[in-house]
Amino acid sequence: PKDVGILALEVYFPFQYVEQSELEKYDGVESGKYTIGLGQKQMGFCAAHEDINSLCLTVVQHLVERNNLCWDSIGRLEVGTETIIDKSKAVKTVLMQLFQDSGNTDIEGIDTTNACYGGTASLFNSADWVESSSWDGRYALVVCGDIAVYATGNARPTGGAGAVAMLVGPNAPLTLERGLRGTHMEHVYDFYKPDLASEYPMVDGQLSIQCYFQALDQCYATYRKKIESQWQKAGISKLCTLEDFQFMIFHTPFCKLVQKSFARILLNDFLASHKPDTGSGIYKGLKDFSNVKLEETYSSREVDKAFQKASQELFKQKTQPSLFLSARNGNMYTPSVYGCLASLLAQYSAKQLAGSRIGVFSYGSGLAASMFSLKVSQNSAPGSPLEKLVSSLSDLETRLGSRKCVSPEKFNEILKVREDTHNSVDHIPHGSKDDLFPGTWYLEQVDEKNRRKYARK
Ligand code: ACO
Repeated sequence: PKDVGILALEVYFPFQYVEQSELEKYDGVESGKYTIGLGQKQMGFCAAHEDINSLCLTVVQHLVERNNLCWDSIGRLEVGTETIIDKSKAVKTVLMQLFQDSGNTDIEGIDTTNACYGGTASLFNSADWVESSSWDGRYALVVCGDIAVYATGNARPTGGAGAVAMLVGPNAPLTLERGLRGTHMEHVYDFYKPDLASEYPMVDGQLSIQCYFQALDQCYATYRKKIESQWQKAGISKLCTLEDFQFMIFHTPFCKLVQKSFARILLNDFLASHKPDTGSGIYKGLKDFSNVKLEETYSSREVDKAFQKASQELFKQKTQPSLFLSARNGNMYTPSVYGCLASLLAQYSAKQLAGSRIGVFSYGSGLAASMFSLKVSQNSAPGSPLEKLVSSLSDLETRLGSRKCVSPEKFNEILKVREDTHNSVDHIPHGSKDDLFPGTWYLEQVDEKNRRKYARK
């Protein structure tokens, strides 16, 4: 099969949100800390009648319905999530309910977990399946979903929730470029969930940010090595830089971290270039940084400031449009970077996107990270797969605008109920159907044997 990649994409986010500026006042922090310091506008959250299964049920149902797919056209379904409500039973098995009437039970794939990275692992597995001898000609479906909630304190404003589903197959408008994956994995305790009875992680915020930057440097270096060697085989001798990506998207715990990461990519380019021109152009005024060591810059304010300034215009062109959903919904964990992809596709026309390369950086604490790239097809004609994909996301802004704003008091109350009932058996979960978008699946009941039953609004 040729051009294996993403054919269709669906995003689900919660109906309720809280304003970050209101949260600043309520938390008693300095005004601007969450909105300017973290770069966040709003944060979506779920009441107790939504869980990881309901989120994934909703996003899969929407994807299949909105693209008029047959339930038996899917031969693989994988879920990437770190929202664990059962140590054995996969979310994937719950999603099999949707396929019941079609009689299709011949569907490979299961759940994958490592912090925010599970969705990317699932996407790689699915694309590899389509390219393999095991492929049976049907689509693969990649689902990522999470409910990102933190205990009260400085990490709480970096929460969020949501799910993304992606249809994977041949002749796709967004193809995964073959052989171009740079991966970095290592053992660290930056963010982890050892308390199986709680939804909250243990997190060392500053360490997690440093690990993210380190992984970015490593993945970018490996990615560049691979693409440069492909070019070399084709007789082209040149260095890979930001210029080779029309767009660059990142896992987004909060938007400010992405702006800093984009600046780091420029720093990497600068340090890799031979005799960079610091008198004019993009590297103007950066001469003093010619001899810095990457590994010594993780907490350098001067480097951060200088490279953010130098990369500001490129950031606006290549990355800022992808932060649309993250700024207003927060960190969705596994779907985060794919929500950035959806935002990018929603902000541009098919014609503007055609032929471009999108760099993708996926990070999951603990840690697992990859950089890879998507190539957008040249054909943007009306009715083309690319045009269909782009227009299917055009309602993102309207949907975000139709959500319900909730006060910080109410938000904290709802999170407290989630916390208190997280392990409850034999109960009806708290939450009103009025606080869900039409067509949303929700948790109707947890019975005396801890079995979960879902219904659709
Ligand atoms: N106006 C403008 N900016 C402000 C203000 C203000 N009044 N007050 C503070 N700021 C800035 C700070 O200067 C800082 O920016 P800088 O780093 O550019 O200097 C920013 O706001 C955040 O302030 P900090 O004091 O660093 O925030 P704190 O340490 O309280 O919490 C943190 C931030 C660590 C990100 C926390 O929210 C957290 O732990 N989040 C979860 C972990 C996380 O998201 N990690 C990222 C990768 S891993 C993952 O995806 C889960």
